[in-house]
Amino acid sequence: MKGIILSEFVEFIEQELGEDTAQKIIDDSGVKSDGAYSRVGLYDYQELIQLLTQAVAETETEATVLLGRFSDHLFMVFKRDYSLFFDNVGSAAEMLKQIDDHIHVEVKKLYPDAELPSFSYTQQGAILTLSYTSPRPLALVAHSLVGACLKFFGNNEELLTSDIGQDHKSAHFTIRTGDGE
Ligand code: HEM
Repeated sequence: MKGIILSEFVEFIEQELGEDTAQKIIDDSGVKSDGAYSRVGLYDYQELIQLLTQAVAETETEATVLLGRFSDHLFMVFKRDYSLFFDNVGSAAEMLKQIDDHIHVEVKKLYPDAELPSFSYTQQGAILTLSYTSPRPLALVAHSLVGACLKFFGNNEELLTSDIGQDHKSAHFTIRTGDGE
């Protein structure tokens, strides 16, 4: 995993919990890199899971709640740093359909060693079914990013169901889209 998401997670806990608590989480999590991430560096994705697990323990917040807040933060960062991917995108459904064959393709060009998941989708009427698969067990990250994406666009779309695979390497989401396009 590139340092982008990891360094943003550290930034996020510093902002939310303060530098001292963030440092305690990093120390207690036992991450190899000591929480010092360069955006272009390459790290074990396990460090994200270690940091998240420790932040959950430290704050006694549910993982899904913490991940939700982190994903909202990450989405603002995506908008700030990769605003190109938001041009001409009018809804969450439009963005979600473009992750696999556009957004993450461009991310891979920018960072050839990025480790990206796969997404596929089907749309029937106003129901979009989005499927996630990855060699990494980050389905809860995918779930929270779908939520952040819906929230970001704030149009009349809703996550109806989430079905997370037992090993967290796959997930299916159904979304009611605004206009059934
Ligand atoms: C402008 C929009 C987006 C940008 C710039 C972006 C970029 C990235 C980057 C840089 C990574 C990390 C790759 C690595 O560390 O090696 C990543 C991973 C990931 N992205 Fe995106 N992404 C975007 C939108 C989305 C959306 C809307 C979703 C919704 C589900 C998503 C789901 C994921 C997931 C789940 C991962 C973790 C890797 C894995 O599961 O294997 N991304 N993305």
